[in-house]
Amino acid sequence: MTTNNSLLHSHWSSRFAFILAATGSAVGLGNIWKFPYITGENGGGAFVLVYLVCVLLIGIPIMIAETMLGRRSQRNPVETMQMLTKEANADENWQYLGWMGMIAGVLILSYYSVIAGWASAYVVKAFTGSFFNADANAIQSLFDNFTASPLQLMFWHSVFMGATMWIVSRGVSHGLEKSVRFLMPSLFVLLILLVGYAMTTNSYQRGLHFMFNVDFSTLTRNSVLTAMGHAFFTLSLGMGSIMVYGAYLPKDISISKTTYLVAAADTIVALLAGIAIFPLVFEHNLHPASGPGLIFQTLPIAFGNMTGGWLMGILFFVLLVFAALSSSISLIEPLVAWLVENKNFTREKACIWSGLGTWFLGLGTVFSFNIWKDVHFFERTIFQLLDYITANLMLPIGGFCIAVFAGWIMHRDHTQSELQMPCKPSYELWRILVRYVAPASIFLVFLHVIGVL
Ligand code: PFF
Repeated sequence: MTTNNSLLHSHWSSRFAFILAATGSAVGLGNIWKFPYITGENGGGAFVLVYLVCVLLIGIPIMIAETMLGRRSQRNPVETMQMLTKEANADENWQYLGWMGMIAGVLILSYYSVIAGWASAYVVKAFTGSFFNADANAIQSLFDNFTASPLQLMFWHSVFMGATMWIVSRGVSHGLEKSVRFLMPSLFVLLILLVGYAMTTNSYQRGLHFMFNVDFSTLTRNSVLTAMGHAFFTLSLGMGSIMVYGAYLPKDISISKTTYLVAAADTIVALLAGIAIFPLVFEHNLHPASGPGLIFQTLPIAFGNMTGGWLMGILFFVLLVFAALSSSISLIEPLVAWLVENKNFTREKACIWSGLGTWFLGLGTVFSFNIWKDVHFFERTIFQLLDYITANLMLPIGGFCIAVFAGWIMHRDHTQSELQMPCKPSYELWRILVRYVAPASIFLVFLHVIGVL
């Protein structure tokens, strides 16, 4: 990253560096852990189709809009909204969008860190040979015993939060550019190898059929909302993460082209993860709807029984932890940037306080897998409730507001000059999507889930 004194933020050294950081934020547990298990819970193909349509029609235009807002203001999300609201002479209440994003980031990180802690623990389990020759039952009890222990979950949650805050305290520039450059392609290669392994099982076709055979009767009202919410979650949209990264993007770089690449990489990783996992689910008579433990109950069986599985298992979970780290950094960055830039905190102090707060909140998720697993609010455990409120409500609402702000509130000249799309029709298409299609679709999905449609 280079520093330009006339701007508040320092800048990514190149377009490639921004792509890496945005991909680092987008690709994470959402693709490899969450996408397969929610696909399993929501019946497969039809859910995948709705998710893909949402990425295309809602996710990509909003990602372009969110990056643009950040780059125009060059500030953290709270200040971005304040500044752009003034620029457009709009109602002051728009600035609450930045606040909501910061809160959503903390809430998501609180449970994200617990699950990333599971992945960290599985690095050790892979290393010590716990998966060796194991069958589905053995792997299942390994997982059940692990999640039943609040102390173990707490320990790994603390390790992951500590690592995240340590990296964030050193500034976005350090480490990020370098690590994502090497780790993302490695993760990709490993997923391809796992897909190769899935192909050798008798259930490969069945896995593919589950993922791609569209049967709309499997969709419930909530499935549609979950698919849409996941499009936001997986692309890191609706809460300011991508806005913060956009703020570091040099002015001469095309936002739209960059966005297509990031969204494509993100989607491919999720699909590969699904293609690797579902054949194993059927091969070992597991249930697609097993919930958040799905990858931890399936992939270790493969690692325990394939040649080279010991090393593959270690590598896979290490890479998953790194993918989670590059996402978790972006979840907390809006809050840290705001504390530093507006509240005069040093970066270290901002990290300590936000890290401690998030860690503490994460205990709710830790306990919801053991001592509080019967504690339900609105028929959901604490983890499920946090996930629902953030991914299904806060992110889509944030995304809706970003679309309306970019499409209706900002001056057309400003968005056009900021986006500098290569040809006029692509700008017009983006404008139609962000003004009409994206907000209307989000609104309709909400109406559908409450039963009006
Ligand atoms: N996109 C990340 C994932 O798929 O794991 C999660 C995430 C990061 C969500 C940043 C939201 C966010 F702002």
